[in-house]
Amino acid sequence: MSRRIAVYPGSFDPLHNGHLDIVERCLPIFDEVLVAVLRNEEKKPRFSVEERVEMLRDILQPIGRCRVESFSGLLVDFMDRVGAITIVRGLRALSDFDYEFQMALMNRRLNPRVETVFMMPKEEYSYLSSRLVKEVVSLGGDVSGLVPDKVLERLKTS
Ligand code: PNS
Repeated sequence: MSRRIAVYPGSFDPLHNGHLDIVERCLPIFDEVLVAVLRNEEKKPRFSVEERVEMLRDILQPIGRCRVESFSGLLVDFMDRVGAITIVRGLRALSDFDYEFQMALMNRRLNPRVETVFMMPKEEYSYLSSRLVKEVVSLGGDVSGLVPDKVLERLKTS
């Protein structure tokens, strides 16, 4: 039987505990979780793609059955390259739905083999986003408990 790979795509700038919660929820369902970091030349990120991939590998590899890669271009083409048919996205609240629904349907149109599966993170992370983490840190606020310790350290030092 072929390996069931969950591709979990995103910007992960930076990884927060809501993302980690989704990865952990995938593990009992899939053989492998492939976290796919988008290379987006248009956005001005807080961390480079290389830094994000390095942090993600550092944090996820001890968990096992997790892989981290970067990708550019269409997600569905990346899915073909890695032999995966399932995209996993986190759904925090109704406000995520429109955007996620559009992406899921467009991806399915572009590649009918691909299905998107939505997973809900723990309620305590339902308000958490990378954008808010960056904003709070830039204004001197405390995000401990919301991001992995290794990310917290990097946010403070770089
Ligand atoms: O964490 P994000 O920024 O919400 O993730 C968005 C992401 C990376 C999933 C999305 O922008 C994406 O898949 N980009 C790749 C380009 C692509 O395939 N675009 C068409 C999507 S319908």
